[in-house]
Amino acid sequence: MDFDVSSDWHVASPYDFLRTLRHEQPVFFSEHLDAYVLTRYDDIRAAYGDHRRFSSKGSLTISRSLTEETRARLGEHGSFLSSFVANVDPPDHTRLRRSVSRAFTPRAVSALEQRFRELNEQLLDRVLPSGGADFIADIGHEPSVKLTAAFIGVPEADESFVQSRVKDWFQLFLSPQPAARQLELADSFLTYLDYVDRLVASRAKDPQDDFTSLMTSLIGSELSHREVVELISTILLGGNDTVPNQLGNSVLRLLREDTWPVPEALIPGAVEECMRIDGASLGSFRYALTDITLHGTTIPAGALVLLSTDSAAHDETVFPEPERFVIDRQNADAHLVFGYGIHFCVGAALGRLQLRTALEVLGRRLPYLSLDPGPVTYRKSIVGRGLTTLPVHW
Ligand code: HEM
Repeated sequence: MDFDVSSDWHVASPYDFLRTLRHEQPVFFSEHLDAYVLTRYDDIRAAYGDHRRFSSKGSLTISRSLTEETRARLGEHGSFLSSFVANVDPPDHTRLRRSVSRAFTPRAVSALEQRFRELNEQLLDRVLPSGGADFIADIGHEPSVKLTAAFIGVPEADESFVQSRVKDWFQLFLSPQPAARQLELADSFLTYLDYVDRLVASRAKDPQDDFTSLMTSLIGSELSHREVVELISTILLGGNDTVPNQLGNSVLRLLREDTWPVPEALIPGAVEECMRIDGASLGSFRYALTDITLHGTTIPAGALVLLSTDSAAHDETVFPEPERFVIDRQNADAHLVFGYGIHFCVGAALGRLQLRTALEVLGRRLPYLSLDPGPVTYRKSIVGRGLTTLPVHW
């Protein structure tokens, strides 16, 4: 057995495999990933907290499956993301993180709640009469995509263009694709970069009240042009994809556990327990900067390491009976699904706000939500867990 993203069991339910690794091989070498994998909670938390030995530099550039032809097509963008905040170490990280954090103040985040609530209500006004839908395609994504677009400053007319490009990008860099498909996705990705580039140029001329204008105003003093383009493109990815994935996973879990709708007082805890048990992020990659010996195994300097937060969230030494869903589990928020340490997700508060608001509005408007019979399917990706479809009725 290995971390094989092309097999269904691995994405849907790898927990027996992960438990065996935690007990027997806490530092596991995955042939499939060509990386060492840490699976114990304490080791993962310690590694996240130790950026001097576990480097983020280049760790997100998961372009290992790209063909020569695709690389040539991408040119200088083959290693795109090389200056994205999650992909660099201090001192660059300290500077970039300071700039990004300016846009994620508690006040700025809570100001988005009302807008997000309205987006959910409007969507439900539209779909409610149909009596059923695919939760993923028809409900889960739209409010987050629209909220992120408004936050970034993408005009409404361009939203669907951006959404489809972001999807292509995700496929190209984060899951293995056949050679011909890679080229199509690479072209799509290049037009997306071009678009973001033009958005930055237009805000430089005519600033508005949005993230792009704020970051563009820092070009020259704190940030470079490339850093701003990478930040914007990746935050669009973060907002468009992770939150809807987490919401889909959470709704499926709550329906299966027969805990729908969630009483309002239990929503914050339910959001954490859903993240813990069905996290949308499965882990983060790091590079070992020195030889690191752990539990008798030496990870050589230069090796790639996967910190499996999915395994950490199911570590029975921290979360008793980890496969059981406990809606008010006391320490559910100790999960590491938002990472930990200096790279802790800058959008965590915004993500939590969206998940809580969505569960509240959906529970109130669709109290009789039920699953349609039939199997559910997951996307094949090593870094993210998300459903491809989730047919429901009400
Ligand atoms: C449920 C939703 C989300 C999950 C599960 C998630 C997960 C993560 C994780 C695991 C990291 C750490 C990566 C690492 O250490 O290598 C991270 C970082 C980051 N996230 Fe999120 N995220 C979510 C939502 C968001 C949102 C909504 C945004 C922005 C709108 C966002 C923006 C970022 C950024 C910019 C970083 C890099 C921070 C740094 O390197 O200092 N995320 N996220």
